[in-house]
Amino acid sequence: MGRVARDVARDLQTLVNKYSRFHQSTLSIEQFTNFGKNATPKESFKFLHHEVPVRLAHIMKEINLLPRNLRRMPSVELVKSWYVQSFLDLMEFHSEREFECNDIILDNFAKKLLHIKRRHDNTVETMAQGVIELRDSEGEESIHPSIQYFLDRFYMNRISVRLLMTQHLALFEENIRSSKSKFIGVFDPNCNVSTVVQDAADNARLLCDQFYYASPDVTIRQHNALENGKPINVAYVPSHLYHIIFELVKNAMRATVEHHGSDAIDLPRVEVLIGKGQEDLTIQVSDRGGGISRNRIEQLFMYHYTTAPQPLGSDAIAPLAGYGYGLPLSRLYAKYFGGDIQISSIEGYGTSANIYLKAFSKHASEVLPLYNSLVAKTYDEADSSGGNSMRDWSSDSFYQGQNHSYSKPYLNFLRNKGLGTDGCFIQNAIDDLVYILCTT
Ligand SMILES: Nc1ncnc2c1ncn2[C@@H]1O[C@H](COP(=O)(O)OP(=O)(O)OP(=O)(O)O)[C@@H](O)[C@H]1O
Ligand SMILES: [Mg+2]
Repeated sequence: MGRVARDVARDLQTLVNKYSRFHQSTLSIEQFTNFGKNATPKESFKFLHHEVPVRLAHIMKEINLLPRNLRRMPSVELVKSWYVQSFLDLMEFHSEREFECNDIILDNFAKKLLHIKRRHDNTVETMAQGVIELRDSEGEESIHPSIQYFLDRFYMNRISVRLLMTQHLALFEENIRSSKSKFIGVFDPNCNVSTVVQDAADNARLLCDQFYYASPDVTIRQHNALENGKPINVAYVPSHLYHIIFELVKNAMRATVEHHGSDAIDLPRVEVLIGKGQEDLTIQVSDRGGGISRNRIEQLFMYHYTTAPQPLGSDAIAPLAGYGYGLPLSRLYAKYFGGDIQISSIEGYGTSANIYLKAFSKHASEVLPLYNSLVAKTYDEADSSGGNSMRDWSSDSFYQGQNHSYSKPYLNFLRNKGLGTDGCFIQNAIDDLVYILCTT
């Protein structure tokens, strides 16, 4: 490496270290929609030009904790280079006078976000390819449990960064905030759940018909315990909800047709039940596709676990299954705003998947993987314990006692914007303030 390249690499490392020490601002759906209704492009810029590089830096540090053999795979190197480039792109917007901006800067910023979004379009596939490259070159044993743990955190980080960028572009570039639209950026404050389910089920059926020349009917029922008889609405990102339902209905349809045969006269229906209570909005997708044995249930959420044949090349029809990404990614989308997916099965009969979402937007807060010394320790321990020590990082208790800092102007900015009102965020902010007070 030449001297200039070495200097650049050292500067980059210093910047990434610095940004990875800042706290990520966990937002609730309520905060996203309030901010989206009221914020100016300038305010959104001020928030994002700090927040996006912070989130990128957290995950860039974590990539370095991956087993070395995986880090060296060409596809992983490629993904890493995208993160470096995007991080550097955003550093261009950091001047000495931190929060200064004008229309030209705003315009450049929006262009840059779009560019970054496109650069990362194929991140999921490319990272998955990296894991396949490792398996092909070093065998199945090389797929260490820490890789599953990492992929969950890596893809969750990606969902969050993409949402921040897409929301800014939707609000200020595509003018989705116009009075005619019921959307606030990419959020629908009154998303009709059964409409999204119907849409996803129709499209899953089309795919199933193409593949098997048969598909089961889907019935949708709902029970609104809060407002009896009224349709069930929720503030959510409809594209996230669509993704989850589409994947689960595809799985249910495939199991049904495979179990009963595509020439069966009456395929048992896939049933979707939507229920809204005080805390949870639950969507249950049930099938009679023969179920899954108890000892396989744990494997379902592992990346690359599939019982479908490998999909054909890109010119074939879209596959119904075959990557082993449907369930783990859907669960991440559900977890992202504090929900979950749980699967129960009666082997020989059928499967039920429960999707849990928060019923109210103020309780639906982002769940973000944050980088700190505890995370590094978790990867270290995974090496010696074969993955048995890897704890659930998507709960608050995982991070307790871990300190990060906000930059002072940024902390003021967040306070002024009211971006600090949910419980988890306040707890983090208090921890951080104590930390800042004790260390300055
Ligand atoms: N409803 C179900 N009934 C029976 N088996 C299921 C069901 N849902 C999932 N599975 C099993 O879990 C495996 C993993 O599901 P997942 O959706 O993650 O991947 P996939 O469907 O194989 O591929 P894709 O990434 O294209 O969705 C499936 O291959 C299947 O064996
Ligand atoms: Mg699937």
